[in-house]
Amino acid sequence: AYVIGEPCIDVLDRACLDECPVDSIYEGARALYIHPDECVDCGACEPVCPVEASYYEDDLPKSLVPFLQDNARFFAEPLPGREAPLGSPGGAAKTGVVGADTELVAGHPPRE
Ligand code: F3S
Ligand code: F3S
Repeated sequence: AYVIGEPCIDVLDRACLDECPVDSIYEGARALYIHPDECVDCGACEPVCPVEASYYEDDLPKSLVPFLQDNARFFAEPLPGREAPLGSPGGAAKTGVVGADTELVAGHPPRE
């Protein structure tokens, strides 16, 4: 799957959202997350991101490797304010803006 990493935090350009044919990019509070099982690896989100936040999982720069697990964690674990994990909603339209982040993203220093 593709993965959205640190460069997206506090930038949230959202150009990627319009490109995804399966609606597998979900909106947290400070970043967006790609659903590892719903993404079909079309790659359309990668070139449109102005800050190069989206990568195929095997092509992640070393510094962004933690975001591979973290994108999965966004769906597999409960988020602040939500008792149940998101699981596999079948498209971001089903959840709307989730409005919460993983610990990794929530704990990231604010971008100036
Ligand atoms: Fe983030 Fe880039 Fe999409 S900044 S919202 S991954 S276009
Ligand atoms: Fe969508 Fe990007 Fe995957 S456009 S299908 S999240 S590669």
